[in-house]
Amino acid sequence: MKHILSYSLILLISIVAAVTIDKDLVIRSAKPIKNKTWENWNGEIHISPNAIFEPSTLEDLLDIVKLAKKNNKKIRCAAQGHTESSLSVTENYLVVVTNLNKIKVKKHPIYGWTVTAEAGISLSDLDETLRNHDPPLTLDSEILYNTVRVSGVVAVGAHGDKTNSGIMSDQLCSMKIVTSFGEVCEFSEEINKSEFNAAKVNLGLFGIIYSLTFRVQPMYNLRMTDIFIPANEWLNNPYNIKNLLESSDGISIAYWPFNGFNLSDPNPLDSNRDRVGIKNWIRTDEPVNFTQQQLEQLHETQKHDVFQQYKLISSNLQNPDAIPNITATLFGSFGNASTVFQAPDAIHFVASEESAKFDFVEIGFKVDPDFSNVAAEFSYVIQTIYEFARKGKFPLNYVADFRIIKSTEALLSFTFNQDPEILYCLMDFVSISGTPYYEEFTQLLAQRYFDKYKAKPHWGKKWEFIPKVESYLSDVLSNQIKQFEKVRAKYDPYKIFFDNKSLQDIFSRTLDS
Ligand SMILES: Cc1cc2nc3c(=O)[nH]c(=O)nc-3n(C[C@H](O)[C@H](O)[C@H](O)COP(=O)(O)OP(=O)(O)OC[C@H]3O[C@@H](n4cnc5c(N)ncnc54)[C@H](O)[C@@H]3O)c2cc1C
Ligand SMILES: *[C@@H]1O[C@H](CO)[C@@H](O)[C@H](O)[C@H]1NC(C)=O
Ligand SMILES: *[C@@H]1O[C@H](CO)[C@@H](O)[C@H](O)[C@H]1NC(C)=O
Ligand SMILES: *[C@@H]1O[C@H](CO)[C@@H](O)[C@H](O)[C@H]1NC(C)=O
Ligand SMILES: *[C@@H]1O[C@H](CO)[C@@H](O)[C@H](O)[C@H]1NC(C)=O
Ligand SMILES: *[C@@H]1O[C@H](CO)[C@@H](O)[C@H](O)[C@H]1NC(C)=O
Ligand SMILES: *[C@@H]1O[C@H](CO)[C@@H](O)[C@H](O)[C@H]1NC(C)=O
Ligand SMILES: *[C@@H]1O[C@H](CO)[C@@H](O)[C@H](O)[C@H]1NC(C)=O
Repeated sequence: MKHILSYSLILLISIVAAVTIDKDLVIRSAKPIKNKTWENWNGEIHISPNAIFEPSTLEDLLDIVKLAKKNNKKIRCAAQGHTESSLSVTENYLVVVTNLNKIKVKKHPIYGWTVTAEAGISLSDLDETLRNHDPPLTLDSEILYNTVRVSGVVAVGAHGDKTNSGIMSDQLCSMKIVTSFGEVCEFSEEINKSEFNAAKVNLGLFGIIYSLTFRVQPMYNLRMTDIFIPANEWLNNPYNIKNLLESSDGISIAYWPFNGFNLSDPNPLDSNRDRVGIKNWIRTDEPVNFTQQQLEQLHETQKHDVFQQYKLISSNLQNPDAIPNITATLFGSFGNASTVFQAPDAIHFVASEESAKFDFVEIGFKVDPDFSNVAAEFSYVIQTIYEFARKGKFPLNYVADFRIIKSTEALLSFTFNQDPEILYCLMDFVSISGTPYYEEFTQLLAQRYFDKYKAKPHWGKKWEFIPKVESYLSDVLSNQIKQFEKVRAKYDPYKIFFDNKSLQDIFSRTLDS
């Protein structure tokens, strides 16, 4: 008996000791990884911060914040690193969240099926978990590539093609963030709607996003149709766009440069021969067209094709005259097609080929009620591509496209509007990474949309190269930034998560004025 007592006493003491040692260890357990440098996906952003962390649990996140406070360091986060702006750049602590990858499907009393994903879950893992659930489930809208992680797409306000789904953050029902106080805070519409609208697109300024809970739906099929029509003719009548949008769940209109180029014609370069690719999605009860095996084969072919396109164009960047012949050869033979897929396969309609690197600029502006500005601006893009070509410049060598989605209440989104009926046109310019004159070309169009429509850039694509963009954004986002800042300052009064110059510039200009 005595023995047992003393044993338990020893046991008790050792437990207490372990706890105190653990408390001491808490901070030391937030060990930085050995990597000295981090790069974004196209290698254009290359940083060597004081330390890089790869946490895999919530406790790790809490420890990293404690350590940062103790050492007076700032923190920025990265997920898959597909963002081309400097949002992850820091000289202090970089937290890479890709090892946070637990996931749970649940039935919610108000929202029906939901999925809670830790920050580092990739869209492909999310899709597969939902697809294999009983009953099978799906998100309603996602970005094209499925390699990116949930916190990365939410933080920057990324979006897919489904018109009424808005940005991906609009599918959130709640989110958990580790704030500067070293605590987990939950944000949701029920807890506080105005704070939730700030947190939904937060650019990493609220803290480390730990987990995200999305509303999901029973799996459904989408018919995806592509038709190719002479561009000038179709764009001449804005009603074509309005009509298509109103009869679809989502649309994406794409233009492949010089696709009608014909060397045997007396006038090889003539935009009147170019076609535009009109893609739309419509929900359907029809069965899917591909077996799993055929789908995998299709994805292999797509990845192979994208990589070949990338190789051919990138090896000719210094040989600009060759571009029209190359893009016409690669993209001129696309034909009409209509196929039924399960929702996630229709949403990620091109398989992600990670070794093909692109430059992206995307600008969003309000759609006129009659869609005339969308049609006119897309025609103007084509015209501008030809004007550059006449000067021997070929800045657009992959695709220009636009999608149309409804507005969101997320304050910092480029599609923010208090009126839920407003639609935004998102113009996207994609070239092979490092294409000469790409910045000159996209800057010209961005500036045009800024001046005409008070347009805003996609935070996760390139925008910092546009002259005076910081003062422009601090001005057009002034009201939203003031509302956002009230909430941000509540959770991070000492600006631990506020480390990059360009965001600081935008915010301080607004707040000082
Ligand atoms: C090939 C390609 C295709 C694309 N297609 C689309 C598209 O169809 N639609 C669209 O809207 N966008 C698209 N994008 C842009 C893309 O959605 C964004 O770059 C997105 O941020 C990428 O996710 P990520 O996991 O790589 O995020 P990262 O680039 O790693 O992170 C983006 C930023 O989010 C913040 N962040 C990330 N995780 C956390 C966290 N846990 N806590 C706090 N902050 C965090 C950080 O500030 C970070 O800098 C595309 C990009 C590429 C390269
Ligand atoms: C660290 O380096 C290893 C090995 O090179 C690599 O696999 C890993 O992705 C790197 N992690 C980060 C965060 O860069
Ligand atoms: C593709 O579809 C469009 C619209 O239906 C039609 O005008 C065009 O002729 C079709 N093209 C081919 C090659 O069938
Ligand atoms: C290219 O132009 C020539 C001469 O005008 C014409 O005969 C030929 O059909 C054209 N090729 C294509 C693919 O349109
Ligand atoms: C898709 O499937 C439907 C019905 O199963 C069939 O009628 C149609 O021809 C198929 N389409 C393609 C492109 O395979
Ligand atoms: C046009 O492109 C094709 C395929 O890339 C190539 O075989 C051909 O030689 C090119 N023609 C010219 C005149 O550049
Ligand atoms: C919601 O948050 C805002 C900003 O932090 C605050 O001013 C407001 O009082 C909160 N509302 C409620 C109902 O708690
Ligand atoms: C912000 O990012 C830019 C571009 O990558 C970089 O040059 C600059 O040093 C960064 N600023 C800070 C304070 O980290």
